[in-house]
Amino acid sequence: MTIMLSDGRPMPRIGLGTWPMNDNEARQAVTHAVSLGYRLIDTAASYGNETGVGAAVADARVAREELFVTTKLRGSQHGYDAAMRGFEESRARLGLDYVDLYLIHWPLPGRGLYVDTWRAFVHLREQGLARSIGVSNFTPEQIERLVAETGVWPVVNQVELHPLFAQRDLRAWHAEHDIVTESWSPLGAGGKLLDEPVVADLATAHGRTPAQVVLRWHVQLGAVPIPKSADPGRMRQNFEVFDFSLSDEEMARLAALDGAGRIGGDPDTYVEL
Ligand code: A2P
Repeated sequence: MTIMLSDGRPMPRIGLGTWPMNDNEARQAVTHAVSLGYRLIDTAASYGNETGVGAAVADARVAREELFVTTKLRGSQHGYDAAMRGFEESRARLGLDYVDLYLIHWPLPGRGLYVDTWRAFVHLREQGLARSIGVSNFTPEQIERLVAETGVWPVVNQVELHPLFAQRDLRAWHAEHDIVTESWSPLGAGGKLLDEPVVADLATAHGRTPAQVVLRWHVQLGAVPIPKSADPGRMRQNFEVFDFSLSDEEMARLAALDGAGRIGGDPDTYVEL
């Protein structure tokens, strides 16, 4: 169950999000997730749990090359040299030779450094230290600028995405440019989404949970969701979304939920350090 990135590398179709877990929680959660079959693990320098994630990866009963570890550069380390250092610090905390996917966490357009940062990412990929490189929370305009100045496309844009904030235009633009959409807060961050009557109806109709219906919606859109849970039962159900499908009509009913707006930061203004 993988999706092909535009650089020719496969990416798992679902993963485990780890925010806001601390090192201990992340270590336990990742260990359990891998035993359930998860292969994609998503962390970030700013989460403060790369050491825990790395410890779980080191102890995992599956080979390193079967896992797909993503981490992200924090905002305070934008710029070429700072990004190279930031990567090395993340890699050391993770205890890995390479990461599978390295993302610029936020564009921070006010700092004006994301293109220089991207040059460091291109270099890290050339060195094989980051097998694939991408961005998070970028707008099409910001991605176009990266490409205009470096000629290198990100293979992934990880953005807030769930039925209440469905990002139709952004997803269409990603598809046109062969960028995989990765969904953060795919369940709506524990908000009212899972209590929406239409979600509950579809869950009943399929004998599934509301979370499974929402995650299946992501998978059918071609997006890669990274639900966060530290609860073993939820982790299991969140992974079991490949043995049923939603009809076009059911997808349309979920599409009708769109319009509530973002829960998280806006790429044009958000400042994360
Ligand atoms: P918990 O960690 O206690 O399981 P998102 O990934 O959209 O940010 O959502 C994460 C939130 O959704 C967390 O509060 C998490 O709680 C909760 N959550 C994760 N999986 C499920 C599930 N299968 N059913 C209900 N809530 C869930």
